[in-house]
Amino acid sequence: MCSAVAAHLSRELPYAVSPADVVLTAGCNHAVEIMMSVLASPGANVLLPRPGYPLYASRAALSGLEFRHFDLLPDSEWEVDLAGVEALADANTVAMVIVNPNNPCGCVYSRDHLAKIAETARKLGIMVISDEVYDHFAFGSKPFVPMGVFGDVAPVMTLGGISKRWMVPGWRLGWIAATDPNGILRNKKIIDSVIDYRAISVDPVTFVQGALPDILAKTDDAFFTNALGVVKKAAEICYEKLKEIDCITCPHKPEGSMFVMAKLDLSSLDGIEDDVDFCSKLAKEESVVICPGSGLGMKNWLRITFAVDPQLLEDGLERTKCFCKRHGKARDFALCINRGGHGLKVYVKGLLKESDSRQKGKGEGLLSRRGFFGIPGIETNPSHLYVQGLLKESDSAQKGKGKGLLSRQYKLS
Ligand SMILES: Cc1ncc(COP(=O)(O)O)c(C=O)c1O
Repeated sequence: MCSAVAAHLSRELPYAVSPADVVLTAGCNHAVEIMMSVLASPGANVLLPRPGYPLYASRAALSGLEFRHFDLLPDSEWEVDLAGVEALADANTVAMVIVNPNNPCGCVYSRDHLAKIAETARKLGIMVISDEVYDHFAFGSKPFVPMGVFGDVAPVMTLGGISKRWMVPGWRLGWIAATDPNGILRNKKIIDSVIDYRAISVDPVTFVQGALPDILAKTDDAFFTNALGVVKKAAEICYEKLKEIDCITCPHKPEGSMFVMAKLDLSSLDGIEDDVDFCSKLAKEESVVICPGSGLGMKNWLRITFAVDPQLLEDGLERTKCFCKRHGKARDFALCINRGGHGLKVYVKGLLKESDSRQKGKGEGLLSRRGFFGIPGIETNPSHLYVQGLLKESDSAQKGKGKGLLSRQYKLS
């Protein structure tokens, strides 16, 4: 079965992976467990991405392997902060982990960026652990490129599995493969350690192993095309719906995996303490489950999965939008109409919240205030703004009609 995985991976690499460099695991999570355990020698440390897939840190902690986080940069398409990686590493650093396509950010790394990662790893004398469980879940402008392409620059351990691309997460089959044409990982006995560790943990289910060669070699392309189309459409819906929500911004349109990271603007929300509070209240009030970024190393961010039926996804995001509106903070605004004199009156109208002192115990209510120029901040959640005033004959709209009343209404988004 290892030869089936080796052949599968070799199709996209400039060299052939040896079946002896492949170890089957009970899913990719098992591969993560094995790698973090195998690298846990006294004093060693591993570099993990932030935000990241939390199992790496948990498994490292369980094995007593020190982990340090480097940043993924939201404003640079979530690329790895390579200067940060260099600053974090020391003589005891053994590996850095990347996830591509990325959970939780939804980004896909370009060939160029992967080359830079390999160069950094070479400089630091460490291996790259490349989690490619979402391989080929790339639906944006960048194609998926396996990190193993740069295995001759720095040794790469590729982690993968059939749970995502073949959509059979319960079948529990994954792999660890040394995509390392110079044989460094074999010579350093890392593969032996992986095999030894696997021997004291679990084996993947035998009948799924038996089906693996056919799964890898004979799945109809139409299956992948269809799956990718569905996920791409869902990503599109998710990104567009998120744009409608004022307190959530998405720095980078998802182009791979099944997730997107979005930033929460707490300053526009009332009574929400942080991302965890946001997600718990959202679950309680709207039955929508979103993962708080805190769990992934990014406080006050959200990780949203779009691997959901499109109708449910739209409904969930619409509910999130309603939730944000309902919890929207009172907006301060001052209106100033520069027309000289006191000819214009300004009305400000908005919805009072129960929590407003004047509204206590009365439910939501309408506030209507009138004033002249420069109304100070109104402590409400205004939805409408009315401007009313006397038009002068000299106003273009009023030419030849004498004085007239201007009444305009603006809907505040
Ligand atoms: C980045 C990453 N690695 C590994 C896994 C685990 O995959 P598997 O279901 O094959 O154990 C996941 C699953 O969510 C993942 O997101």
